[in-house]
Amino acid sequence: RSDAPVDVLARPLRDLRVSVIETCNYRCPYCMPEGQTPEESTLDRARRLSFEDIETAVRGFVRLGVRKIRLTGGEPLLRKNIAQLVARLAAIPGVDDLALTTNGSLLAGQAVALREAGLHRLTVSLDAVDPAVFRALSGGRGEVGDVLRGIAAAEAAGFRAIKLNSVIQRGVNEDQVLPLVERFRGTGHVIRFIEYMDVGNCNGWRPQAVVPSRELRDLISARWPLQALSPSYRGEVASRHGFVDGEGEVGFVSSVSEPFCGDCHRARLSADGQLFTCLFASTGQDLRPAIAEGEFALARRVSDLWQRRADRYSEIRAQPHADSKKIEMFFIGG
Ligand code: GTP
Ligand code: 5AD
Ligand code: SF4
Ligand code: SF4
Repeated sequence: RSDAPVDVLARPLRDLRVSVIETCNYRCPYCMPEGQTPEESTLDRARRLSFEDIETAVRGFVRLGVRKIRLTGGEPLLRKNIAQLVARLAAIPGVDDLALTTNGSLLAGQAVALREAGLHRLTVSLDAVDPAVFRALSGGRGEVGDVLRGIAAAEAAGFRAIKLNSVIQRGVNEDQVLPLVERFRGTGHVIRFIEYMDVGNCNGWRPQAVVPSRELRDLISARWPLQALSPSYRGEVASRHGFVDGEGEVGFVSSVSEPFCGDCHRARLSADGQLFTCLFASTGQDLRPAIAEGEFALARRVSDLWQRRADRYSEIRAQPHADSKKIEMFFIGG
């Protein structure tokens, strides 16, 4: 397709992650530590894109080859009437995959509405099954029971193969790995362990706190033998491993130990309409003027920007950076 741009490293644009809100009801220390929330979180609501704006943007991105949309936050279920946005996006021809990543705290009350609106897939963050560890990891704000009820409600609403995302930190929740696997093995859901990343500026990341995926794979495999599976699509972020006994699979997102920038086909749109071409970018590009002109203008603008993209932060993490300020995870949705 002639209208599908590639970037400087010959990567096409296939996925768009849309942040619908820049705040959260949790304060996970690795993302939005209590009391250190920088100015982005005070973004005034009037600057948020409307559902109409988001729909226009998505239509424009689809013109450029995007087939996969993921709604994120902050916490996307805090955005009022989010199911209405889902319904608008699900109706766009070319949106083949429409997913949402949530912390699950409000899912029990919204799962049916999301399903009926046409959401295809759900990902729920879950860093612990132990109530006290969970509570600490949510910054003292969350109850694991609410999230587990949310997952059950999503199942009852018809969501299948729900993905569970767990960020594991050395000495913090390593002891939750086997209990998490035990809980979801054989349920048809897929738990994925994410290496703790140096996103943003406020989480005090240290390389020593990262637990490399290889170590977790060995730990799990010693209890329930695993075998590597092939990716379900080109550029899949998580590497898949199946239980030899047929009880399902787990995934590992190893962006620190094994960066995957070479196949990165993702763009991110912030709630206030900025384009970020990397999770670790320091600045975004304002798309609002182009969105106001409509989907064709937006597509032209994004195409220009994408063709200039050369981001590969995870591959060059160890090198000194001229500009070390990075966008915050809660602002851009992971
Ligand atoms: P699927 O479509 O189900 O494969 O989901 P996904 O893995 O693309 O999305 P998800 O939001 O579940 O991603 C899992 C986690 O991987 C994110 O929360 C991030 O922490 C991390 N991640 C996703 N995309 C990128 C990326 O482009 N770069 C880096 N460094 N990390 C990413
Ligand atoms: N490192 C890795 N993953 C992170 N997430 C948030 N902050 C970090 C970090 N510093 C994850 C969340 C959620 C997803 C949106 O991003 O746990 O699953
Ligand atoms: Fe909220 Fe998710 Fe960030 Fe935790 S990781 S503070 S749940 S946006
Ligand atoms: Fe893509 Fe940037 Fe993540 Fe690399 S670090 S995979 S370029 S978002």
